[in-house]
Formats: sequence, C-alpha cells, structure tokens
Amino acid sequence: MTVCVLHVAAEMYPLLKTGGLADVVGALPPAQTQLGTNARVILPAFPSVVAGLKRIEPVADLGWAFGIDNVRLERGVLEPHGVVVYIVRADAFYDRPGNPYLDASHTQYADSDRRFALLGWAAARLANGADPAWKPHVLHAHDWHAGLAPAYLRAREREGVARVPSVMTVHNLAYQGVFPASEFGVLQLPADFFSVDGVEFYGHLSFLKAGLFYADRITTVSPTYAREIQTHAQGAGLDGLLRHRTHDISGILNGVDQTVWNPATDTAIDTQYSVEKLTGKGKCKAALQERVGLAREPDALLFGVVSRLTEQKGIDLLLSAIPDIVQRGGQLVVLGTGDPALESGLKKAALAHPHAVAVELGFDETLSHSIIAGSDIVMVPSRFEPCGLTQLYALAYGSLPLVHCVGGLADTVVDTSLENLADDLATGFVFEKFDRPSIVAAIRRAFALKQRRLEWKAVERRAMTQDFGWEASALRYVDVYRELIGTSVR
Ligand code: ADP
Ligand code: GLC
Repeated sequence: MTVCVLHVAAEMYPLLKTGGLADVVGALPPAQTQLGTNARVILPAFPSVVAGLKRIEPVADLGWAFGIDNVRLERGVLEPHGVVVYIVRADAFYDRPGNPYLDASHTQYADSDRRFALLGWAAARLANGADPAWKPHVLHAHDWHAGLAPAYLRAREREGVARVPSVMTVHNLAYQGVFPASEFGVLQLPADFFSVDGVEFYGHLSFLKAGLFYADRITTVSPTYAREIQTHAQGAGLDGLLRHRTHDISGILNGVDQTVWNPATDTAIDTQYSVEKLTGKGKCKAALQERVGLAREPDALLFGVVSRLTEQKGIDLLLSAIPDIVQRGGQLVVLGTGDPALESGLKKAALAHPHAVAVELGFDETLSHSIIAGSDIVMVPSRFEPCGLTQLYALAYGSLPLVHCVGGLADTVVDTSLENLADDLATGFVFEKFDRPSIVAAIRRAFALKQRRLEWKAVERRAMTQDFGWEASALRYVDVYRELIGTSVR
C-alpha cells in the first residue's frame, strides 16, 4: 500500500524560507516521493507561496473560520520535483507584507493565534476528506504553527469521524506558540481541551503543547535533541509531558538536499568542485574574500557563519572569540539577521578589523552558498541546536564545521582530537563547554590542523564523503507512519 502523508507547515524552500524548517519541508516530501510515499504539503497562501506554485486550482470552499469569510483550499504544484502543495486562502490573514511571523517593521502579528489555528484547522479538514481526489493516511505537523492540527483531528473524532493519525515534529522547542488563555474561545475547540491534558500551558495556551499532547507520535530532528528536550534544563517547560511520552518520541536527523547543496552542481558559487577535483574550492575562497571585502590572502584561515542572529545561535560567544581569530591571522565572514544588539556587536567588530572581519546583515540565499563553499571553517557555536543544517552543508562542501557539542551538532560532527585523527574519524572541531576558553581551544585546533597540510586534506575529504542525504531519514519517517497506520486507524 502506498502511504499518503500530508505535511503541515508555515514555510517551504524555495517558496518561502526564514530558517531550516523551510529546507526540511522543501526536501523531505520529494525524498519521500522517490521512495514510494505519496507526500503532499499544506501551507498558508503567503504571497511568495502563491507566486511560486504552478497550476493552482480550487479544491474546496471551507466557509467561515476564525472570523474570515470564504476560506478556500486550493492546490498547486511545486517544480522541479512536482510536489503537490495545498494552500489555505484567507487573504486577510496571509496576504501581508513581511514574513510569516513578523510584519514589515519586525513586530509580531497580533493575530498569529488565529492565523495559525486556521492552518491547523484547514489541514485537519483536508485530512478528513476535503479534497475528494486525495486523502492522507497520516498528518505530519511541523513546529508550533501546525500544532493545533492534531487537536482538531481529535475534536473531529469526538463527532464520530475516524481519526487520521498524526505525527508532531519539533524543529525547535524554544518556539512554542504561547497565547493568552482568553484567546481559547476563538480556537473552535471543545471547551474541555483547555486543560493540563490538552492545550493549557501554565495558565496560557500553547500550540506546540497541543501538538505534543494530541499527536500519536512525536519526532524531533536529532537523536541527541530528542534526549535533551526530556530534561528539565532543556525541556522549556515541556519536559514533563515529553518524559511521559518518551516511548512515542524518535530523533530522526535532517538531511542535505543534494539538488540544492552540492558543490559539484551548485550554480550559486564561483567555481564548482568535488572531492576528486578540489581546485575550485580555492577559487570560491578568493571570490568570497573579494565579494565581502576581506584581504585576498589565500593562506588566511577563513571562518564563515550563516545564521539567524539570536540567543540560540551563540553569536555572543562568537563575538568574544573574534580577537583570537584575528590575532592568529584568521578572517571571519558573517551573514545573518536578527537581534539588533548582536547585529551591532558584529558591525563593531567589522569596523575594528576591516580586512579581517566582514559582516553582511540580511538574508541572502546566494551569499549563503558562497560562504559555505568559500570558508575553510564554518562555525555553529549554538547554545542549543535541534539539528542544524549549516554544519551539514559545510561538511558536503569540505568546509570543516566548528560546533558546540549539543543536539544535532553533536550527532553530526566528529572532533579532530588526536585519537579521532588516528582512527580516521575526524570531520571538524567540537567544543564541549559553552564558554570562551572552550571555543578558543577549538579555534586553536583549527589553526593547528591547517599547519598539517596532509591531515587537513584527509579531514576535508572525510567531511565531503559523509552521507547525510535524506534517504535514510525519509525511510525512518515512513516506518513511523506505517506503525501508526497499523495501529491507530479505526
Ligand atoms: P535554524 O533553522 O535554526 O535557523 P538551520 O541550521 O537548521 O538553523 O537552518 C538555517 C537555514 O537558514 C540554512 O539553510 C541557512 O543557510 C539559512 N540561513 C540562515 N540565515 C541566513 C541568512 N542570513 N541568509 C541566507 N540564508 C540563511
Ligand atoms: C530549527 C532548528 C534547527 C533545525 C531546523 C530544521 O529551526 O533550530 O536546528 O535544523 O529547525 O529542523
């Protein structure tokens, strides 16, 4: 039997992207389709989503919901993979300037509870048969934006509708979709769902908690993060619920979409290269130095960062280590956007070291590829990191990752300790403690390895031949779906 799955999410590359969630939603469905699963996606009809889809056609009129008249479900196709994408048309909610979460002046929308309740509600309607031509066996919700979908499925079950089983994937437990309890009335859920055993969360309501409570299975994006979120220290108030559901939780690593992130075919970089023919990598480095205004020094060890500039990403720790990079003759290029204090800290560092530190504030897909390709080292010093994709891209491009030993970073990068070098295991630089001495020690290890040309080459080669494709993970998700279809469909 072909398994049909409906992914519910707020973003999907290349239609709309603010972070790794979009990369996953863009890559997992085509990977699943290749393995014989019928995977479709439902998104809010944001302007760039509508603009990027082909052959959009009406599917169903969903009527009034959350104060919006005439909510419509439509269906289009995303090329080149041909993934079918449903869109929820409610222009008063989604046809706005800005990104899905923030308006044009970077302020959170006041009505995001209703905007994303509508996404979950429409997804549940689709799962329950709103498209006469297609019905999923499983609904797969991603992050808090989709967290109410499993709750709406349970509510429908009460009305006698056979429940479609659901999976809730946590991409980041730090974003929970918490709203005032007074908003519960607008969610169109049964009154008793506002309970500790339901959507209530410390006197508020939480979309993520709803998903974690009502979904049949929970996954998160790395095995280590799956363990971390069950601890008090890293459970963000949800560890009790997660421990209670420990047998329903799996950690499934994200992968790399090799149609987008492959140095041998990447048209966004200066010169394509591969593990067999690495000369292009040096050209990418020179082009990057030129592009961002760094001194054109082939031998300067170049550290790159592509990141949201938030507390999570450890940019404050990076700032504390910049003098150590510069004093050793290294260079740093940062591409990012986010917290104004971090942005101005980085700008100050660039002003202080104009030939050694370059900072580009903003979101720039092409430059992100140039940095991943042109850097010698890609830094991901996150406080916590559910999976992390940039270190995986860095490995594929032979740019050695330098990472904090947490979450998916711990699961994907092997430190260049002497014993790992001796056993041919090392792929990057890993620091254990989130403090300045530890990151500086890792930076020193990077400089030391650069002096040992042959060993550097061996680590680079090993990094590039790691297999972080989507196939293994896509198969694991299908196993989760199959278990559910076997057990919980009535
Ligand atoms: P997160 O989802 O927490 O931001 P990930 O490492 O999983 O972290 O994914 C981040 C994704 O967003 C990567 O594809 C990365 O290249 C991209 N990205 C982050 N910041 C920028 C930026 N300023 N410009 C372009 N791409 C960015
Ligand atoms: C989140 C996490 C990141 C993960 C991404 C995709 O944004 O912060 O670690 O890689 O989602 O799962």
